[in-house]
Amino acid sequence: MRGAAWSRHILSAATALAAGLAACSDSSPSTLGGDGSGAQRIETLWWVLFGLGLAVFVAVMAAIVIAWWTRRGSLDVNRFVLVGGVALPAVVLAIVGVETVRATNAVFEEEDDPREADVVVVGEQWWWRVTYPDAGVETANEIHIPAGEPVTVELRSADVIHSFWLPELAGKVDMIPGQTNRLVLEADRPGTYRGMCAEYCGLQHANMRFLVVAHEPEELASWLEARRTPPPSPSSGPAAQGEQVFLDEACSGCHTVEGTPAQAQVGPNLTDFGARRELGAGVVERTPENLSHWVRDAPDLKPGVLMPPIELTDEQVEQLVAYLGSLDPG
Ligand code: CUA
Repeated sequence: MRGAAWSRHILSAATALAAGLAACSDSSPSTLGGDGSGAQRIETLWWVLFGLGLAVFVAVMAAIVIAWWTRRGSLDVNRFVLVGGVALPAVVLAIVGVETVRATNAVFEEEDDPREADVVVVGEQWWWRVTYPDAGVETANEIHIPAGEPVTVELRSADVIHSFWLPELAGKVDMIPGQTNRLVLEADRPGTYRGMCAEYCGLQHANMRFLVVAHEPEELASWLEARRTPPPSPSSGPAAQGEQVFLDEACSGCHTVEGTPAQAQVGPNLTDFGARRELGAGVVERTPENLSHWVRDAPDLKPGVLMPPIELTDEQVEQLVAYLGSLDPG
């Protein structure tokens, strides 16, 4: 009987370990092996904490083994408390404290820095409004930055507390209603990085994700330039009819497409929607099938989302999908 109980314990421990390792798979971003100076600083801190933790663990285990082995009853209790309970923790906490302050200073910029932010990100339930103040461009759920340059990001919230977390490039910063926080991001090389909300903010907290795309600096300039001028209205075909559906039906009551009468600010700005990779802040990939599903019944894909189901005919959905796909400034 005892053997069976033990094997059950071992099995559940192995299952927990496997689940833990699965969580570290390629698809989830890791704080270790980051691509930016902030992430590398945090990684160093992580290794310092890990090393100290390991040293303390080994020392305690060794003390237990020695005590058991020698069965000594003549321990000098005063000295033991002084060394193990005062001196050792003081040294460990001092190292951790100094390292933490140094890493924090390196990663986070002063909040009252007078420079204007390169990018402003506002957390909303459950997506990210992204604006580039210099270029006058607004997008959503994707942040495009130049590689190899520090980028100042201003972080705000439109409703509840969110937290901006980009494990591979920088630290985690809360977005607090009524307050502006700042973060400096830097990607060493071009690439795409996954970010997410790290503060529970309601039903779809887990589906509040974003992408950061680091470009070569000149490539970013043309990316922004392409978005400064709104895309021309499609002249014919399903996309042109789709634009009419967009303007006549509920869509334009919440969304903006620059260059059209749709200028509402409730939901994400859709001016460059056709260039985006995902829908609903990372719920699904942006394919025509998923977009049809989203347009008809967004809460079915993302329960709790503000966007209501929309009554449209199959033809209207098809036209709308064609129109939204055409909004690609390249
Ligand atoms: Cu926003 Cu969690």
